[in-house]
Amino acid sequence: MSNQHRILLLGSGGRESALAWKISQSPLTEKLFIAPGNGGTGNYGTNVGMSPTDFDAIERFVADNRIDMIVVGNEDPLVKGVYDRFASDSLLVVGPSKAGAALEGSKDFAKQFMVRHNIPTARYQSFTADMLEQGYRFLETLQPPYVLKADGLAAGKGVLILPTIDQAKASLKEMLSGMFGASSATVVIEEFLSGIECSVFVLTDGSDYRVLPVAKDYKRIGEGDTGPNTGGMGAVSPVSFADAGWMEKVRTRIIEPTVRGLKEEGILYRGFIFLGLINVNGEPMVIEYNVRMGDPETEAVMLRVDSDLVALMEGAAKGSLGNMPLNHDKRAAATVMMVSGGYPGPYEKGKAINGLADVDTDRSIVFHAGTAVDPETGAVVTSGGRVLAVSSYGEDIAGALANSFASVGKINFDGAYYRRDIGRDLIALQEK
Ligand code: AMP
Ligand code: GLY
Repeated sequence: MSNQHRILLLGSGGRESALAWKISQSPLTEKLFIAPGNGGTGNYGTNVGMSPTDFDAIERFVADNRIDMIVVGNEDPLVKGVYDRFASDSLLVVGPSKAGAALEGSKDFAKQFMVRHNIPTARYQSFTADMLEQGYRFLETLQPPYVLKADGLAAGKGVLILPTIDQAKASLKEMLSGMFGASSATVVIEEFLSGIECSVFVLTDGSDYRVLPVAKDYKRIGEGDTGPNTGGMGAVSPVSFADAGWMEKVRTRIIEPTVRGLKEEGILYRGFIFLGLINVNGEPMVIEYNVRMGDPETEAVMLRVDSDLVALMEGAAKGSLGNMPLNHDKRAAATVMMVSGGYPGPYEKGKAINGLADVDTDRSIVFHAGTAVDPETGAVVTSGGRVLAVSSYGEDIAGALANSFASVGKINFDGAYYRRDIGRDLIALQEK
């Protein structure tokens, strides 16, 4: 049995709530701090008013509070090099080095990496502002719709899918002239792939790896996958088409070449890899890499991790994952996100959230995302677009969803909205 840990978790969303919930259950956790956390993470540990990218503040906090493990929830600190700054024998950091974080931080790097290691992904080329004409010529070789991606981080908004060649050319020009600032100084243009997407999560120590339960998220604001993209409106796990045969292809064609490729290239990676995959006629292909867990997938996936997450993260961060088990709970899990009226456009904050105490805790776990505790009244109020991730178990996805919807029905705040069709596509697929 290893020693207990004093853990600092960085982030403030629903994902961090779910990680904090799971971490707090481990006998290996002595103390958990969440920076900055939200209106619900205080249920699992102690919130610390500190930005995940304020490395000087983190350094002082780590020293003052004898932190020996940093778990990084969101990508920003990773891309800015939190691993390189802090990882040592006495301070474990769960996450990739800055070089590894480029798998998310630069789409061009990720595409080149996949080409180098023969990992299936859409055909592509990258362009900078001086290559506008070449970009137009490449677009002309593709079929509509056209996929344009800002190379750098763009808060989830950097991917445009355009129906016509004229719109694609106009958007390419706009992106290269600074539409997403420096993030779109380079633009990746790639072939459009058609299929159902899913999210596969891997925890690696740089040599060995474990696969977490597979999930599917729902990105658009409107039912039937319509309207603008959001941070994610819900998630379900497992995913019926990601069966043993399909996952074997994912393992041999994608996961193993990725982990081996990172190692061969001397890129330190001791943390979670998020594979955004698409099922193209039965063949898995990579849409994107992220270097962290997904949100809201984590709020469903953590329910199905039937092993000690802290032990696993310690193994990953120390390079001693070996054959430590990561068991999957047989039950299904579903998350329904309650969001603020107007989101993903402008929305109001500070709305009182009622009914949280009425949720049957045997039925659902309500992970807070954009919430805060009003310092004067102690009441929980909305403070973001995605407010609550209502997660439940069920015998199958339909059962888990029914539980989440029943719990959503108990909660209200002014302007609350949620999608009632989360998981419906997968349920229809199973019934075929
Ligand atoms: P990303 O930010 O890379 O996850 O892209 C956002 C979304 O755009 C993805 O989840 C897909 O739904 C879609 N997308 C990205 N690349 C492609 C592609 N090559 N073909 C089809 N859809 C794509
Ligand atoms: N749910 C997608 C993401 O976390 O990027």
